[in-house]
Amino acid sequence: MWLPLSNQSLLALFLFVSASILVVGTLRTIVEFSFLTKIYFSTTHGDPADVLEQGCNLFQGRWVLDEHNSRPLYTEESCPYLTRQVTCGRNGRPDSLYQKWRWKPDACDLPRFDALKLLERLRNKRLMFVGDSIQRTQWESMVCLLQPAVPDGKRFIHKDPPRKVFVAEEFNASIEFYWAPFLVESNSDHATKHTVQRRQVKLDSITEHSQHWAAVDVLVFESYVWWMYQPLINATNGSHDVREYDVAAAYELMLRTWAKWIDSAMNPDTQKAYFMSLSPTHLWSWEWRNGSNGNCFNESYPIQRPFWGAGSSLDVMRAVAEALQGLKVKVTMLNITQLSEFRKDAHTSVYTERRGKLITGELRLNPEMYADCIHWCLPGVPDTWNEILYTYLIHGGH
Ligand SMILES: *[C@@H]1O[C@H](CO)[C@@H](O)[C@H](O)[C@H]1NC(C)=O
Ligand SMILES: *[C@@H]1O[C@H](CO)[C@@H](O)[C@H](O)[C@H]1NC(C)=O
Ligand SMILES: *[C@@H]1O[C@H](CO)[C@@H](O)[C@H](O)[C@H]1NC(C)=O
Ligand SMILES: *[C@@H]1O[C@H](CO)[C@@H](O)[C@H](O)[C@H]1NC(C)=O
Ligand SMILES: *[C@@H]1O[C@H](CO)[C@@H](O)[C@H](O)[C@H]1NC(C)=O
Ligand SMILES: *[C@@H]1O[C@H](CO)[C@@H](O)[C@H](O)[C@H]1NC(C)=O
Repeated sequence: MWLPLSNQSLLALFLFVSASILVVGTLRTIVEFSFLTKIYFSTTHGDPADVLEQGCNLFQGRWVLDEHNSRPLYTEESCPYLTRQVTCGRNGRPDSLYQKWRWKPDACDLPRFDALKLLERLRNKRLMFVGDSIQRTQWESMVCLLQPAVPDGKRFIHKDPPRKVFVAEEFNASIEFYWAPFLVESNSDHATKHTVQRRQVKLDSITEHSQHWAAVDVLVFESYVWWMYQPLINATNGSHDVREYDVAAAYELMLRTWAKWIDSAMNPDTQKAYFMSLSPTHLWSWEWRNGSNGNCFNESYPIQRPFWGAGSSLDVMRAVAEALQGLKVKVTMLNITQLSEFRKDAHTSVYTERRGKLITGELRLNPEMYADCIHWCLPGVPDTWNEILYTYLIHGGH
C-alpha cells in the first residue's frame, strides 16, 4: 500500500549514493568491532532493568543461530495482522533461516520479550510509531509480538488515516502507527496517495502532525529513506520560496523543527520518546561480495564481518545523535543501524508486493529490477528492534 520507492527510485538512490561516494567521500567508513562467528550457547535472558543499569550496549554484538527453536518469536500463521508486503514465506520465499537468528549483545543477553509485562506497562496508555513504511513494519511487528497476550475478541485494528491503531481492549492500551515519512509536513503526507518523485518538504512546519502526537504517552520516531531519493530535495523553510536543499542540510533543518516541538510540547514526567536510527538497505551485492553486481536477492545468510553499507549516511547518523544531545527533554536513540547492516538476507526481495500487487512470474525472474532491498520480512529484523525497545520501555517506566 505504502511502498515509497519504485524501481526508478531504487536506481536514483543508487545513483545518488554512488555519486556521493565519489563526490563527498564521507558516506563510507570502516566500523571497528569484533565479530565472533561462533554459535552462542546460552539459555539465559537478561533482566531489562539489569542489562541497562549495568551499562550493556544493546547495539553492539552479533547474530547467533538460536539453538532452542525459540525463533521466530511468532509465525506468519499465528499473527493475523501481518500485511502481504512483509509475509515473505507466504509470498513464496523458499528459505526460512532468516527467521532463526537472535541478536546477542556482546555484554549481555537481550531480555525475553514478555507481552503481558509490556501490556501492563502500557495499560491506559498509547504507544505510537511515527514515520514511513519501515516504521510501519516495526509497528506490525510490535502488534504481532503483543497480540497473543490479548484474548480473541478483545483486540482489533482500526484505520483512521494517517493512523493505524491496534487496540488491546482489556488493557485500554493502543499501539499506533502514524504516517509522516519526513516527520515534518510534506506533500507526501496522504496515507495512500503520495509520490516520492515529486516530494516537497516543509522544513519548518510540523503542527499538522504534532497535534496528533501531543497526547501520546510513548512516541517512537523514524525517518530516512524518503530523504535519500536524490542528493537534493525540494523544500520550503518559512515563507521562502521552494528551492533545492542538500539532503543532509535539509535533514538537519527538519531535526531542528522536530526538536523545537519536543522541547516545547513534551512532558518528560509523563511522556517518553525514542528515535530509531536509520534502517540500512542492501542494494549492491558488490559491497559484501567483491565482483558481483546483484542486490539482496537470493541472499540467505547474514554478513559475518565488519560491515557498513554505502547507503547508510553517516551525516544523518551524526545529525540525529547531535540533535538528541541538544534536547532539554531526554529522547533515546535506538541505534539499530549497525545490527541491521549485517542482515542482507532479511529483506523482502521479490517476495513482496509492488503497488498493491504481488510480484509474480516473470517479474520475479528480474530481481535486478524488482527485488525490494529496503523493506524487511516479518517475522524478522524489526522484531529485534522491538525487543530492544521493549527493554527500554520496561526499564524506563511509562
Ligand atoms: C551505533 O552503534 C554502533 C555499534 O555499536 C557504533 O559503532 C556507532 O558509533 C553508534 N552510533 C551512534 C551515533 O551512536
Ligand atoms: C484509557 O486510555 C486513555 C489513553 O489512551 C486514557 O486517556 C483514559 O483515561 C483511559 N481510560 C481509563 C478508564 O483509564
Ligand atoms: C524541484 O522542483 C522542480 C520544479 O518542479 C523540478 O524541476 C526539480 O527537478 C525538482 N528537484 C528535485 C531535486 O526534485
Ligand atoms: C530556516 O528557517 C529558520 C527559521 O524559520 C531560520 O532560523 C533558518 O536560518 C532558516 N535556514 C535556512 C537554511 O534557510
Ligand atoms: C576485488 O576484486 C578485484 C579483482 O578481482 C581486486 O583487484 C580488488 O582488490 C578486490 N577488492 C577487494 C576490496 O577485495
Ligand atoms: C542463489 O544462490 C545459490 C548459492 O547460494 C546459487 O547456487 C543459485 O544459483 C542462486 N540462484 C539464483 C537464481 O541466482
